[in-house]
Amino acid sequence: MAKMKVGIVGCGNIASDICRAIREKGLMAEVVALTDVDVAKAETLRQDHDLNAVITSLDKTVAAVDYVVECAVGIVVPEVLQSAIKYRVDCLIMSVGGFMSQPELLEEARKNRVHVWLPTGAVCGIDGIRSAMQAGLESVTLTTRKPPRGLVGAPYLKEHNIDVEHLSEPLIVFDGTAREAVKAFPANVNVAAALSLAGIGPDATRVRLVADPDATMNTHEIHAVGAFGELTTVTQNRPSPRNPKSSYMASLSASAEVAAAAAVFAARES
Ligand SMILES: NC(=O)c1ccc[n+]([C@@H]2O[C@H](COP(=O)([O-])OP(=O)(O)OC[C@H]3O[C@@H](n4cnc5c(N)ncnc54)[C@H](O)[C@@H]3O)[C@@H](O)[C@H]2O)c1
Repeated sequence: MAKMKVGIVGCGNIASDICRAIREKGLMAEVVALTDVDVAKAETLRQDHDLNAVITSLDKTVAAVDYVVECAVGIVVPEVLQSAIKYRVDCLIMSVGGFMSQPELLEEARKNRVHVWLPTGAVCGIDGIRSAMQAGLESVTLTTRKPPRGLVGAPYLKEHNIDVEHLSEPLIVFDGTAREAVKAFPANVNVAAALSLAGIGPDATRVRLVADPDATMNTHEIHAVGAFGELTTVTQNRPSPRNPKSSYMASLSASAEVAAAAAVFAARES
């Protein structure tokens, strides 16, 4: 049976976890093209996972595959979608925050019959939000709780002179819309973006960020109220075993999406 040809844009930690999952889980998928602004990263990925893949430009990567995985950075998302539309290739976009400034890109892909898979990433409950939206939602709130060291250096804290390094109790450092949150804490954009896109949008979704000196993990709590009833989910994320800066769940979510796409591809081809 033919394997799904996968192209990877951004050869960092998530890319490495995807390659590992493809190999260890025996997925009907094969990474055949890689691109990265840092060619050395692509070379390392190719060697670490013994890939029979070309290292080439973004456009040529997309042209060569059945499915493209973007796991690079938000600013590259428009270019990935442009190429995906040009070559009619479905794609998984990990840098969901890349849609916050240009949500119309999703509609453009849909019109061109390109399927864009958005991962649930580091948070659970987005499936419920998407379902609930069918009947409408009144409110959606994301409360993210982090150890203070995970927030140090955020532009918002600097601008507002908020010191999180000497806290003795939890402090709400931000309370606003998802759109404002993404600007204020660019390193935390993906969860807020994914929740907004699945639900009531970046201006109606409320985001609260708590610096908690007793927290050992990043916790995301979603609370939503709508015609369906009420939903609360809590996700406590361990860091990824090979990347302390990223939640393990994000990589697991990427691997689950690739597995699902490979299964759809295999069913289509058989
Ligand atoms: N959806 C989620 O919940 C979620 C969770 C974690 C991370 N992410 C996002 O996934 C992406 C990848 O995360 P990671 O932990 O693997 O990051 P990483 O830093 O380990 O890897 C990113 C790679 O992309 C490359 N890169 C940067 N700019 C590029 C460009 N313009 N074109 C091509 N390559 C480029 C870098 O050189 C690097 O090799 C990030 O955007 C991150 O924010 C999403």
